[in-house]
Amino acid sequence: MTEIPLVLPAVADGEDKRSPFKNIIRNNYKHLKKWAKRTHTDSFRIYDREVHHYPLAIDFYAGRFCVHYFSRFKDDEPSDALVKEVTDVLTSLFQADPQAIYWRSRIKRSKYQQYEKAEQQQQEFFTVYEYGLQFKVNLLDYLDTGLFLDHRETRKMVGSLAKGKRVLNLFAYTCAFSVHAAAGGAIFTKSVDMSNTYTAWGKENFILNGLPLQNNVIIREDCAVFLQDEIRHKNKYDIIIIDPPTLSRSKKMEKMFDIQEDYITLLARAYRLLEQDGVIFFSTNSRKFHFDETLLGSFSVAEISDKTIPQDFHDPKIHRCWRIQAPENGASA
Ligand SMILES: C[S@@+](CC[C@H](N)C(=O)[O-])C[C@H]1O[C@@H](n2cnc3c(N)ncnc32)[C@H](O)[C@@H]1O
Repeated sequence: MTEIPLVLPAVADGEDKRSPFKNIIRNNYKHLKKWAKRTHTDSFRIYDREVHHYPLAIDFYAGRFCVHYFSRFKDDEPSDALVKEVTDVLTSLFQADPQAIYWRSRIKRSKYQQYEKAEQQQQEFFTVYEYGLQFKVNLLDYLDTGLFLDHRETRKMVGSLAKGKRVLNLFAYTCAFSVHAAAGGAIFTKSVDMSNTYTAWGKENFILNGLPLQNNVIIREDCAVFLQDEIRHKNKYDIIIIDPPTLSRSKKMEKMFDIQEDYITLLARAYRLLEQDGVIFFSTNSRKFHFDETLLGSFSVAEISDKTIPQDFHDPKIHRCWRIQAPENGASA
């Protein structure tokens, strides 16, 4: 495994402190840096819409910056003045190269746009740390970066429970949950995603961390089809992670996936693969999602979002997460 140093630059301090926006970034980073060093992490959010006039989230990825712009109106793009100010703030605070600042605006993404395609792929991959594990990230070529930072604590939670366990990761994306599980001592992980790009990326994440692929299996398949096959094969798991997109449609799928319409079928099928004392972690980023627990019969369902949203995220709706167990095991939830 290649040892790459943590990237946590010193932040400039002895300068003008009149800008609340800049002060917040400086203070957030300085505060998080102590935790980041201690936990061997160099990927985290350094600004999360704290100042009304700056509708941005800024993620720090090992010395590079991913700036998300939250448009107020349809088709609203960040102004040139805002782009210049953000560039000035980040370059002066971190001595960052302006080329290391990547803007992301989601408005151009149509509702059902295929997940993995960006227009021109330049293959700008680099490595970041999260709790001592390494992940390949790309801030330029894909619609997402390869590592969803809002699930850092959920991944740590899964890793801490994984020792000696069999783990299934559905909608696995780049296998970050599975890598944490395997590093935490899981005896077997299976990651399922329908994208060739992301299954290949996931494989590289395992290799990057020196984790063997023999007992960390990655499958390219529609999760709906996979679940039916897996139930037929009577395979069982101790931990199942289900973090699907809100909507997804592809030629590879039998039918479109809509989290609100399909979550009960998805959870009921996954539950059939769960060991008696097993646990499902189910999460969604859908802000409109309503979880009707009564539809799940006697399962024990506990929302754990207050434990899974990291300290650097200030939006309580960034995701929601539930722990689902058999009723007799729910008391420990
Ligand atoms: C929101 S991401 C999942 C995030 C991931 N769980 C993580 O922690 O990084 C959505 C992923 O679901 C995959 N996907 C979408 N629909 C799918 C389906 N029907 N079957 C399998 N994978 C699917 C996409 O390829 C993408 O990698």
